[in-house]
Amino acid sequence: MITGASTGIGAATAREMAAGNTLFLHYNSSEREVGEVAVAVSEAGGTPHLLQADLSNKHGPERLAEQLGELTDALDLLVNNAGGLIKREGLEEIEWDTMEEIFTLNAFSTFMVTKLLLPALRAGYHPQIINMTSVAMRNGAPNALMYGASKGAVDTFTRGIAKSLAPQIRVNAIAPGVITTPFHEKYTSEEQLEAMRRNTPLQKFAEPAEIARAVRYLYESEFLTGATIDVNGGMYML
Ligand SMILES: NC(=O)c1ccc[n+]([C@@H]2O[C@H](COP(=O)([O-])OP(=O)(O)OC[C@H]3O[C@@H](n4cnc5c(N)ncnc54)[C@H](OP(=O)(O)O)[C@@H]3O)[C@@H](O)[C@H]2O)c1
Repeated sequence: MITGASTGIGAATAREMAAGNTLFLHYNSSEREVGEVAVAVSEAGGTPHLLQADLSNKHGPERLAEQLGELTDALDLLVNNAGGLIKREGLEEIEWDTMEEIFTLNAFSTFMVTKLLLPALRAGYHPQIINMTSVAMRNGAPNALMYGASKGAVDTFTRGIAKSLAPQIRVNAIAPGVITTPFHEKYTSEEQLEAMRRNTPLQKFAEPAEIARAVRYLYESEFLTGATIDVNGGMYML
């Protein structure tokens, strides 16, 4: 199951994981795009199923779990990837409603989807969870403060459940740097992107397929749990 599989990183992950697998592809508004992903998955030898749910409100995770329950009772992999920046704001601009919206989409929905799909994961083969966080949770994201904080919550959640679900279920996270997807088209100006590129030691951004390869790496790494993989061109170093 991949949430946010219609575009960007989720769509690339679906393509990467397609061959020989049954894929549950979640989307919200990008119906045409997820249809194209489903065709690519079928052509690569996979079996796609589409699930629609808006994860920006408390009913979204239930809607998603209900649809999945009609299709299967066992899940090997959950990729909690759906997310968005929603609004760039620093401390002086934050408002309650926007904080709630950002945390609901990126953090609360991830927590609830994980909880609701746990019975299916427990019935899966070598089950595991991969959460998509962000370099923003590493560097603090001064002009996307709540987005960075919401991803920080997901990162901490990752380690918490990695402990409570071990040894049956492995749980890891990926923290991408700047990836060329519709994400930045929505929220980042050309000038901001250029500044980000200059701040990236490798002096470039990555294609979403780069993150999809990290998903595969985690999927195949039997000794990894509670880890966050930073895939960011050196934008963050300890
Ligand atoms: N691109 C980057 O530079 C970058 C960096 C760090 C982390 N990330 C993280 O990577 C993940 C994927 O982002 P992306 O770059 O691939 O961006 P994207 O192309 O904009 O994809 C976002 C996905 O999330 C889904 N989504 C957005 N709002 C939703 C809502 N209200 N309910 C349900 N689903 C919703 C979208 O579905 P629909 O289009 O169908 O509505 C889409 O499938 C996100 O969690 C993002 O925070 C991205």
